[in-house]
Amino acid sequence: MTKARPNQGPKQEKSVFIRTYGCQMNVYDSERMAGLLKPLGYQAAASAEDADLVILNTCHIREKAAEKIYSELGRLNKIKARRAREGRDVKIAVAGCVAQAEGAEITARAPQVDMVIGPQAYHRLPELLARTARDHGEILETDFAVEEKFDRLAAREADGPTAFLTIQEGCDKFCTFCVVPYTRGVEVSRPVDAITAEARSLAVQGVKEITLLGQNVNAWASPPPAGEAGEIWGLGELCRHLAKIDGIERLRFTTSHPRDMDEGLIAALGDEEKLMPYLHLPVQAGSDKILKAMNRGHTAGRYIDLIARIRAVRPDIAISGDFIVGSPGETNEAFEATLALAEEINYASAYSFKYSRRPGTPGAVMLKQVPEAEKDQRLARLQAVLEAQRQAFNKMQIGKILPVLFEKTGRHAGQLIGRSPYLQSVHVTAPKSMLGSLAPVRIEGVTPNALAGVLTPEGTKEGEAAA
Ligand code: 5AD
Ligand code: SF4
Repeated sequence: MTKARPNQGPKQEKSVFIRTYGCQMNVYDSERMAGLLKPLGYQAAASAEDADLVILNTCHIREKAAEKIYSELGRLNKIKARRAREGRDVKIAVAGCVAQAEGAEITARAPQVDMVIGPQAYHRLPELLARTARDHGEILETDFAVEEKFDRLAAREADGPTAFLTIQEGCDKFCTFCVVPYTRGVEVSRPVDAITAEARSLAVQGVKEITLLGQNVNAWASPPPAGEAGEIWGLGELCRHLAKIDGIERLRFTTSHPRDMDEGLIAALGDEEKLMPYLHLPVQAGSDKILKAMNRGHTAGRYIDLIARIRAVRPDIAISGDFIVGSPGETNEAFEATLALAEEINYASAYSFKYSRRPGTPGAVMLKQVPEAEKDQRLARLQAVLEAQRQAFNKMQIGKILPVLFEKTGRHAGQLIGRSPYLQSVHVTAPKSMLGSLAPVRIEGVTPNALAGVLTPEGTKEGEAAA
């Protein structure tokens, strides 16, 4: 018998297409899912049209994000029907936060979906796939067990000089607008040894920059490894520990909460050279009344003080943030306070969103919801301020020599794209052999979304040595 049966053995050639929505945690999870599927013979497909398995790794943070998934599922249904007529099966899986939040609702609304896999269950993908092939029924797997997931994940393959590494999952903060505590569960920190082993393996594969990820990354806390000082380590100690790994040149972390910015982490931002001068610290609003209604656990004043203390130890740090406009009860005056806070902080970059009512969150049933048109106007005003600040921050780099880590080739011949310490994209004409290396670049100009620079003499020398 030579005819191949589905899921017969590990070596069958198949293809998977993973579409990732939302945050960097999902980018990391998608990468790990691809890694899990590789030993089963799944190669990356160029598009959903060509794939045997399509995974939507979803985001539930705002209503639009969830609705996008259903429209994408409609499109996939057509592909699935066409492929069925050609005698080929396509499996569709919904993973991530929409899977967690909506569960069986997804297969009720979109019966073409074969698997619904929550963020803590994707390590079970191989067995779930085998089960769908056997049973032809839809499968729902949305249990919370973060530690088990990490224990069962295979070693990962690096892809380029930068990598994400999840160190923490979940959130206990219960901001009244946010679905994360319901979709990602309570705060769980991975142990130091597991994180160090993953970081070392990435470094051996040539990774130079690691971004530590967590929904509340600076809530990370865990006992130190044997022989190290301290009872419980926080993110500052972890960063110092990882900075000792040979080959790791840069560390970043995201996303932090103002409440968990402790002295140890602030000190590390001040003196740990491998920790990059960039901090994403969402504030959400500038009015104390709104911050209280959001259950943020900090006032505008405390946030401003915190940034001042961080700037005192690292004056050049690029501050980034998140804002929500049009939260329930946000008056004109409250919105003006948000604008004033943005002016006071002077962000290097920031994200801003219109409040989106998420069923199941306390915010969704609050009185005095703000009309959509008002939200639009406020968002436009805030974004104008933040965009001007971003451009000014970028322009400030002109004339400086910044170390740039080259990550990929650009659209133009001979062009490489890298990142500055402040996470700006930098476009440089440089030999391809410099991909993956760090080199000093003189910044000569700015474009709307990037800096433009030239290799300095030292940078050119490094490139020639690498060639
Ligand atoms: N509406 C609008 N923005 C939201 N965010 C989270 N929940 C909502 C919501 N319901 C934003 C916050 C958060 C970022 C990831 O998404 O600013 O920091
Ligand atoms: Fe959501 Fe607030 Fe937790 Fe951030 S801190 S994930 S906004 S509940």
